[in-house]
Amino acid sequence: MSASPPLIAVEGVGKRYATSSGPIEALQDVSLSVGEGEFCTLIGPSGCGKSTLLGMLGGLTAPDRGRVLVEGRPVTGPDPRRVATVFQDPGLFPWRTALENVEFGLELQGVPAARRRAVATDLLGPLGLAGFAGKYPRELSGGMRQRVAIGRALAIDTKIVLMDEPFGALDEQTRLLMGEWLLEIWRRTKKTVIFVTHSLQEALVLSTRIAVMTARPGRIKSVLELGMGYPRPMESPELVALRAKLWHDIREESLRAMGGDQ
Ligand SMILES: Nc1ncnc2c1ncn2[C@@H]1O[C@H](COP(=O)(O)OP(=O)(O)OP(=O)(O)O)[C@@H](O)[C@H]1O
Ligand SMILES: [Mg+2]
Repeated sequence: MSASPPLIAVEGVGKRYATSSGPIEALQDVSLSVGEGEFCTLIGPSGCGKSTLLGMLGGLTAPDRGRVLVEGRPVTGPDPRRVATVFQDPGLFPWRTALENVEFGLELQGVPAARRRAVATDLLGPLGLAGFAGKYPRELSGGMRQRVAIGRALAIDTKIVLMDEPFGALDEQTRLLMGEWLLEIWRRTKKTVIFVTHSLQEALVLSTRIAVMTARPGRIKSVLELGMGYPRPMESPELVALRAKLWHDIREESLRAMGGDQ
């Protein structure tokens, strides 16, 4: 056992939101640690606090109870040198080209123009956007726009990338291809990814670990370790069995979230 702390540690975290109809308990006693280089997926019913938890890792939301540590230090606010986030909505600047959008984070960091152009240009190839550097978001497909948003997060070269349903708005085929592509990038860059999805298949083919969350208030219900390598054929007996277990846990919580019996 190594003595160094995990890259990310979530310790007994709770979060309550004040709303017009009274307080809502979004997260309750959530603990999770994620090691360097992991691809850890959060999955759970809508409203169980996945985005809230991601927001805490990114320093955008503060916990009411417990603490969140990155590299052993409490997160007190956004730290774009350590953590990059890809949101569900690509949120590109319409007046910037694909290349200029990918450069954005580097610009914020004060990276000189020639250097940031070189970094962004190098990224466009693996993003499958080499021929689209000068195109504006309106001239790109949904999948391409999302890849630009991912490129923007990868360009700043943080150790940690948070991804909140990055492929949620895409059609199934594009989504499958994007998953393959993301896996390639992750394996090549050895970044640590925290990924949120509602897709069981996406979780199973991509993750080193899947944390299933309960219906609100969100807690960690179970953690599935996926020891096997990549690529992972969905029809393999191992994955079929894991899918059944995952669905069992998620189904229970989704029913609870919908006000069902379980
Ligand atoms: N800023 C806020 N103010 C009040 N309530 C909030 C706020 N943000 C989130 N909530 C509530 O906290 C709960 C958790 O929200 P969160 O967005 O984290 O869920 P989620 O798991 O990401 O859901 P989804 O899968 O639909 O994206 C929800 O009930 C939501 O309504
Ligand atoms: Mg969410």
